[in-house]
Amino acid sequence: MEESATEFNLLKRHVEQLLKIQCSNYKEDYIKRRFLSRMRSTNSTTYADYLRYLKAHPAENEPLRNALTINVTEFFRDKEVFDEIKNTVLPAIFQQRKRISIWCAGSSTGEEPYSLAIILYDIIASHKDLSGHIIATDIDEVVLAKAKAGIFEEKAISKLSTLQVQRHFTKRPDGMYEAKQHLKDLIRFRPHDLMTGVPPARYVDLITCRNVTIYFTEKQKDDLARTFHSALIADGYYIMGKTEYLGRQVEDLFAPKNTALKIFTKKEKTASQKTA
Ligand SMILES: C[S@@+](CC[C@H](N)C(=O)[O-])C[C@H]1O[C@@H](n2cnc3c(N)ncnc32)[C@H](O)[C@@H]1O
Repeated sequence: MEESATEFNLLKRHVEQLLKIQCSNYKEDYIKRRFLSRMRSTNSTTYADYLRYLKAHPAENEPLRNALTINVTEFFRDKEVFDEIKNTVLPAIFQQRKRISIWCAGSSTGEEPYSLAIILYDIIASHKDLSGHIIATDIDEVVLAKAKAGIFEEKAISKLSTLQVQRHFTKRPDGMYEAKQHLKDLIRFRPHDLMTGVPPARYVDLITCRNVTIYFTEKQKDDLARTFHSALIADGYYIMGKTEYLGRQVEDLFAPKNTALKIFTKKEKTASQKTA
């Protein structure tokens, strides 16, 4: 046990120097889970094994960096995308129907679904005939539990306006900020693996799946796009991360609405796709 703790600390120190990632900023349990996932992928049985592997294989640096930062998220990540959701996407959907359904896939610790909830709440609060809900899913139940609790550090909400903080969060005695019940009521958090191909809901008006698929193979990404296509209502919206892209095999399924912001709408399948 002690030996394993020493090995873990040696590995951690090496990674901190190698990748310039401050592992001690994170809970030890989180770092261990990430190391273990890379150890499984590289057939390393101990921390010492993995340290040797890492030293011998510079190509392992990037997967490890990705594994360590996999849950990284923030409120209104890429603000211009959320401005577009607020000013164009949600108003366009609300023109079609009064109750809307949003699926936030790969929601991590909740910053993305709560950002969507802030926008949604501000619209429905001033239009009593409108309503909506957000299904937020993630494969990682630890981050999902955090998201459900809706409690954030001051630095997480630092980019929100004072008005947004006052309106949507309560400062707790421990200095943390908790999302108010009206935001929590708009979101249902559920564990879900995007690789299953079965969406957690259908007839969805908007899917956001941002910064999730960077570790997926091309085939997995294509299958995921087909899953999203099947979950969306006709003309429904699909928003990807700004650095993600639609594969050739599936680009016919969606029409670009805003190419720079990776906003698409669902196209009905062509005759050849229907018979495929
Ligand atoms: C980098 S975070 C992105 C969070 C947020 N969407 C954003 O853009 O800020 C990626 C999230 O995708 C989740 N994820 C990775 N693979 C997944 C899968 N197969 N099914 C569901 N979620 C997955 C991870 O657990 C992580 O919380």
